[in-house]
Amino acid sequence: MATLQELADFWSAEGINYVIPPVGGEFPEGFDVREMLRKIIDPSGGVLEVGCGYGRLSAAFPADKYVGVDVNPTAIEQARKRNPEHRYLVIEPGADLPEANSALIYTVALHVSDQALDEFLTPICKAANTIVIAEIMDERWRRDGVPPVFNRDPEAYVGAMRLQGFELLQYGKVVYERYNNANWNVNHDVRLTVHIYRRKEMR
Ligand SMILES: C[S@@+](CC[C@H](N)C(=O)[O-])C[C@H]1O[C@@H](n2cnc3c(N)ncnc32)[C@H](O)[C@@H]1O
Repeated sequence: MATLQELADFWSAEGINYVIPPVGGEFPEGFDVREMLRKIIDPSGGVLEVGCGYGRLSAAFPADKYVGVDVNPTAIEQARKRNPEHRYLVIEPGADLPEANSALIYTVALHVSDQALDEFLTPICKAANTIVIAEIMDERWRRDGVPPVFNRDPEAYVGAMRLQGFELLQYGKVVYERYNNANWNVNHDVRLTVHIYRRKEMR
């Protein structure tokens, strides 16, 4: 299972399973991610959230400046109920996306295989000038099983985004609390890595 379509089929079949780790509570990260996002993304030129799931993070942004997209119709249906003022679209994997100044890819790209990564990133890089990729970036988390994960090191995104004409502007790391215990935090980076990319030649 590795093409973008096959991965999308997996998520669609699962409904909202695996959208966040099943620990109870809205933020297994251990902090309100929306507050962090408000600090790092200026919504004034619009925000496109790719892989928005059931809209957990949408309220970080004003409803009239936001569009959330996902390949998973069940998740989008729930997002619409949860945030009726925000706008959501079910998309085909790899489809052209609505333009916005900023795009957010939060714990989504790690679920995209290496073979499908460029196909996933290309429409996002066409749609936005500033792109935030945030997830645990450490290849040692790679494993077989469900949900499919293809964690990669930060440098892999720097390289992939450079091919798309984007440069890394800023980065930060913050502990992802769910994984900060002895089952996980030995020989694994348990921090969420946040990358902010900017288009090299502004349109
Ligand atoms: C781990 S969940 C994260 C959801 C959300 N970002 C959050 O943190 O609450 C990954 C989401 O990415 C979506 N997804 C997977 N492949 C996608 C693709 N090619 N394009 C858009 N969304 C995708 C899945 O349907 C799922 O909702």
